[in-house]
Amino acid sequence: MKYFAFFLFVLLFAVDTKPTEAVCGYESCPETKPNFVNIHLVPHSHDDAGWLKTVDQYFYGHKNNIQHAGVQYIIDTVVSELIKDPKRRFIQVETSFFAKWWKQQSETVKQVVKKLVNEGRLEFTNGAWSMNDEAAVNYHSVIDQFTVGLKFLDETFGACARPRVGWQIDPFGHSREQASLYAQMGYDGEFFSRMDHKDKARRMEDLSLEMIWDASESLSDAKLFTGLLYSSYWETSGFCFDVLCRDDPIIDGDSYDNNVQTRVDDFIAYAAKVAAKFRTTHIMIPLGGDFQYEDAHINYKNMDKLIKYVNARQANGSHYNIFYSTPGCYLNSVHKGLQSYPNKTQDFFPYASDSNSFWTGYYTSRPTQKRFERDGNHMLQTAKQLSVFADLKSEQQKEDLDYLRQIMGVMQNHAAITGTEKQAVSNDYDRLLYDAIIGAARNAQDALRVLTNLPDGEFESCLQLNISECAFTQDSADNVVVTLFNPLAHTTSQYVRVPVKEENYQVTDEKGRLVASEVVPVAWQVLALRFRKNTTQHELVFKASVNKIASYHIKKVVRRKGNAIFRPKRLKKVVTNNDEESETVLQTSLIKLVIDNNSGLLKTVEMNGLVEDIEQNFGVYNTKGSCLYSFREDEPMSVLSNDVKLAVYDGDLVKEVHQEFNEWISQVIRIYKGVNRVEFEWLIGPIPQTNPKEVITVFDSGISSEGTFYTDSNGRETIKRERDKREDFTPDLENQPTSANYYPVTSRIYLQDNRKRMVLLNDRSQGGTSMNDGELELMLHRSVLSTNEVQSVADLFDSDLDQGRIAHGKLFLILNALAKKNTVVERLSEKEIHLPFWKFFSSYSKVNRNAAAKPLPDFNLLPKSVHLLTLEPFTDDEVLLRVENFLDHIEGNVVSFNIRQIFDGLGGVEIRETTLDGNMPLSEMKRFKFHAEGSGAVSTEAEFYTAAHKALSADSSMEASEFSVTLNPMQIRTFIIRKK
Ligand SMILES: *[C@@H]1O[C@H](CO)[C@@H](O)[C@H](O)[C@H]1NC(C)=O
Ligand SMILES: *[C@@H]1O[C@H](CO)[C@@H](O)[C@H](O)[C@H]1NC(C)=O
Ligand SMILES: *[C@@H]1O[C@H](CO)[C@@H](O)[C@H](O)[C@H]1NC(C)=O
Ligand SMILES: [Zn+2]
Repeated sequence: MKYFAFFLFVLLFAVDTKPTEAVCGYESCPETKPNFVNIHLVPHSHDDAGWLKTVDQYFYGHKNNIQHAGVQYIIDTVVSELIKDPKRRFIQVETSFFAKWWKQQSETVKQVVKKLVNEGRLEFTNGAWSMNDEAAVNYHSVIDQFTVGLKFLDETFGACARPRVGWQIDPFGHSREQASLYAQMGYDGEFFSRMDHKDKARRMEDLSLEMIWDASESLSDAKLFTGLLYSSYWETSGFCFDVLCRDDPIIDGDSYDNNVQTRVDDFIAYAAKVAAKFRTTHIMIPLGGDFQYEDAHINYKNMDKLIKYVNARQANGSHYNIFYSTPGCYLNSVHKGLQSYPNKTQDFFPYASDSNSFWTGYYTSRPTQKRFERDGNHMLQTAKQLSVFADLKSEQQKEDLDYLRQIMGVMQNHAAITGTEKQAVSNDYDRLLYDAIIGAARNAQDALRVLTNLPDGEFESCLQLNISECAFTQDSADNVVVTLFNPLAHTTSQYVRVPVKEENYQVTDEKGRLVASEVVPVAWQVLALRFRKNTTQHELVFKASVNKIASYHIKKVVRRKGNAIFRPKRLKKVVTNNDEESETVLQTSLIKLVIDNNSGLLKTVEMNGLVEDIEQNFGVYNTKGSCLYSFREDEPMSVLSNDVKLAVYDGDLVKEVHQEFNEWISQVIRIYKGVNRVEFEWLIGPIPQTNPKEVITVFDSGISSEGTFYTDSNGRETIKRERDKREDFTPDLENQPTSANYYPVTSRIYLQDNRKRMVLLNDRSQGGTSMNDGELELMLHRSVLSTNEVQSVADLFDSDLDQGRIAHGKLFLILNALAKKNTVVERLSEKEIHLPFWKFFSSYSKVNRNAAAKPLPDFNLLPKSVHLLTLEPFTDDEVLLRVENFLDHIEGNVVSFNIRQIFDGLGGVEIRETTLDGNMPLSEMKRFKFHAEGSGAVSTEAEFYTAAHKALSADSSMEASEFSVTLNPMQIRTFIIRKK
């Protein structure tokens, strides 16, 4: 109660103070002293959006028996401490928590916080919705979650809240694409604290903890200052003053225990060690850790004293100058220091904390959750685009769309998409994402009722099509309309599969034209899934061609003899491995597959004018030491089986080989007429509980890859990997030779020689490698021990952790000739796999022939290499449009096009260009440029980057030529279009 009264008093005092001239940003940074070691003391709290507790348990301080943590109290007490002294600083990192707290504050508190932000005392750093992982995330979702976080900050506080520095202190390895995205958002630099122990040791030696990351091979300006913290972000070397810590407070009174002398000695000794490893006269010492500052007056009271007594020594000749600061202010000082830094061109994967701990298991951990997250993005992009086309505006609709945006931000957290959270937290993520998808699906329904000729259509989404289950078609698919939404820019053709009974169907398009279709049996292993209803056992397959929206009508028919056109094909089993033949051949005009009937395995692939023997199989690592984070090999991988049972279904549209490897692994290999890739649909689990296992698949070819393979960085550019090698250091391969060669595969992995390349595309993030020439390996599923040595808490993870789970997914194989532009087809496939048609189901009776479908803007005018990355409602009268040239400097070219037609189609009156996140005018972008070693003379003045091209800015009265857009390879441009 006493405390409360005090708080109020302080608030009133603060509000009554005349508003000072608002100075935020670098201008508000503390003064530093030349010829001193300037110690930037950075108070911070690392608040995970879910890990051992759920997001809400962390926010409210619930279930403190699991972990003592309550973010609402952190922000409450930090704010009341900041008010007391204008010199105090704090950085707020996770916008999801801050936004939740903000909503609950009174107007008075809000005014106080605005003042703190406007004076640079409360500084937003990173500012995304959560602190995203960097291995398993797709760039699409990273951009989105920064857009959401920065938009909240901009709308709430304006430009003073704009973060300038990336703060990725906890993720377990760092991607080049993340650095590239920071540069494209106008950030000045990024800091993190985890790096391979050998890399870090070397960098300590040669003062290269800070570097210039050349984060893109295609984009010239994607250079970012990148700094590694001297020690782990939670390590404060005896100076943790938090209520969670046990370090000595600073006792400065007249007491026998007075420890000022020794505490200051110790601190200065530590600062001297840090200063010896950095190039300027500035060092940053973060003080904080997981969920610290819950009782912030303890922290600030002691930090105040620390600062006072360290600086008091200056009177006696000490050269140490300490003050409250922020990572942004530290970077600002470093920038003015005009030093040169080493460059960095690859990434920081895999992360090894010691010679036996390579954190590569989390690339695959919780494969079903990793897939569900991709479904979330799929619905999010679908709902965003449809909301724009239908101009959805109700409060409920806006709320529903925002909710999915936010939950997708939470899913990017480094303890969410990584699969490293506790089981109960994983269940909570599933609940949140499911609810959010359902809400956004309602928006999609509302939009489609406006946009199509089914004003009363149901537009049901079937979320279990991955196990061939759909309530809408389970009794009968008679007179069903499937409305397909294509999130991509260009008209594409894709095969559609609908769960049906074994009956005869006729499929027609919107013009009433008959579309060829086939009825294919579903693998019995899928039918046997214990939680599946088994009301249907077949799928109707047909090829659909969709610009943005198209509907197909499915009708049950009676088989009529002699009428070839109306006879839908039903596929029957044609081969089993009891047959005499030693080989089975499946062939379309594009692809020929040869299956060895003895082993039951794929043997040869013929496509794109090439023939290659490719054997594909599954294997396991039996492990004892693996956990959700690390993959620790105890024995060599063992290949599972060479006695695979086969069933082959040979149709006109689709040809399938159903393989059974053992009781818990099966697969369907599939080729479609006219599709130039081979599909492998795997089903794994439950993994037997006898001992922990990691399940992998291997594609073994004769391609002489000579130790080299390639993996994507968050679904954008590729990075060359050389077996057993790193860019900057010699890795320690003694204990974990395989795990040390595992890399994140977010969308593709490939290898090649001078003639051929073998490419695998996946449907979720996985870990992958090439341990032998010609061989690609992907980890698909894991059943690992619950304990994790990395953490000291023995009961960190529940014992039932995902063990019983069955995972189902797809890989796509492309065998391609090595030619410069041949990868284009792979990149197009990748987009289709990431954002296929979304299927909506309605009854045919709801079709209203008088209702005209609303015309939509045509994105086909965009060049083929341009991706419609984002189209979403931004504010009530604004739309965000993001376009990307998704080919890199080797595959693609500079492309130019005009967006006037799209602008008009969206009802635009004005258009402006912003940084990648949509929240800052591109013309205002000005970010730090640092000097890289070996790139000429160091400038005598601080340098900056501004936008490399003139920001597009136009209105509807201007000539069409003002709307021309040029995209370099890999360039993304973001526009805000104001509508009528
Ligand atoms: C400075 O030196 C004097 C003389 O040794 C000593 O008495 C005083 O305590 C010192 N001050 C600080 C802040 O250490
Ligand atoms: C599913 O239903 C079909 C048709 O009734 C039946 O033949 C099959 O055995 C069922 N499968 C399972 C696993 O229940
Ligand atoms: C990186 O630095 C090295 C040596 O200083 C230099 O040769 C190389 O060109 C630089 N690379 C980039 C991409 O700047
Ligand atoms: Zn964390």
